[in-house]
Amino acid sequence: MLIVTVGNEKGGAGKTTSVANLAASAAGLGLHVLAVDADPQGQLSNHTLGITAEPGKSLGEVLDLTRSDRIGVRDAIVETNVPGLSLLPCERESLDRAEGEMTRNSLEGLTVLRDALRTVDEEYDLCLIDTPPRLLALTTGALVAADMALLVMRPTTLHFAGGDAFIAKVRKVAASGMNPNLELVGVLFNQAEPGEETTIIEGLAEGESWPVLNTRIPDSKLASKANLRNEPVVISDPNRAVSRAYRAAIEEILERTMDDDASASTGSSDPVDDINHVADITPAQAAQTRGQRGGQLIARNGTAR
Ligand SMILES: Nc1ncnc2c1ncn2[C@@H]1O[C@H](COP(=O)(O)OP(=O)(O)OP(=O)(O)O)[C@@H](O)[C@H]1O
Ligand SMILES: [Mg+2]
Repeated sequence: MLIVTVGNEKGGAGKTTSVANLAASAAGLGLHVLAVDADPQGQLSNHTLGITAEPGKSLGEVLDLTRSDRIGVRDAIVETNVPGLSLLPCERESLDRAEGEMTRNSLEGLTVLRDALRTVDEEYDLCLIDTPPRLLALTTGALVAADMALLVMRPTTLHFAGGDAFIAKVRKVAASGMNPNLELVGVLFNQAEPGEETTIIEGLAEGESWPVLNTRIPDSKLASKANLRNEPVVISDPNRAVSRAYRAAIEEILERTMDDDASASTGSSDPVDDINHVADITPAQAAQTRGQRGGQLIARNGTAR
């Protein structure tokens, strides 16, 4: 299972909408996908996917080491209305409490999510974790658990500092030794419209060598309307531009995670080849890649995940 943690210190960047739509798009490719709602606001669960956690069965009860009624990940995971997409939902009170305990008990607390997800490693190909708009214990724990981090941001000057802070956090977690293999897989521009602000941010991102994805998610009322109907827009309006963009984005992300493997096995690093290959990926190839990635991670870490 490849784990990608989605974040940004800035609120309203499109993290939750992107997790839901990227996860649903990956499920549409035939992958078994787990979405994790690690934001106490619970919008991925309650809003976008329309799921209310059963009492006592949410991420808070999984993460909180002090609870006598602590549960395993499998006890909390539920199926969503999207075929192939499961959810580890959140309930605000218990997740807030868990974050408090994670903060008090830092070293052990920050590795609980990683260890919990390892117990379902064989059951899913891809796990996407939604995080809160702050870089505290829940986000740190989600980055400790991840293979890759994805920054979702609106390409406006107001949003640049929050994105920059998330990237600094990713580097800090990798440098801390808690997750030395953590990599930034990309920067996804959401609600991206051509214009002066976008051009300024593109320039800043290039100056910072940020790995900005070629795919941009357009500003679309359909995306927020779909959220209100508790459905990812890629399910409610699959043929609209915003949905095509989310499908292209997940293919680009998966392709980037394969790049290491592909260049290791073929020695090819032709960027034109790589870009063309994105459009050609089949569900079977994607699933096979996830398996390979899992194998690579076992080899790299020397431990079964
Ligand atoms: N591509 C888009 N086009 C139009 N509206 C969007 C798009 N993406 C997200 N939105 C809307 O923007 C708002 C913020 O999105 P979202 O909740 O996904 O952001 P977030 O980063 O998860 O926020 P928070 O930091 O509060 O968790 C929501 O109302 C959502 O419907
Ligand atoms: Mg959110």
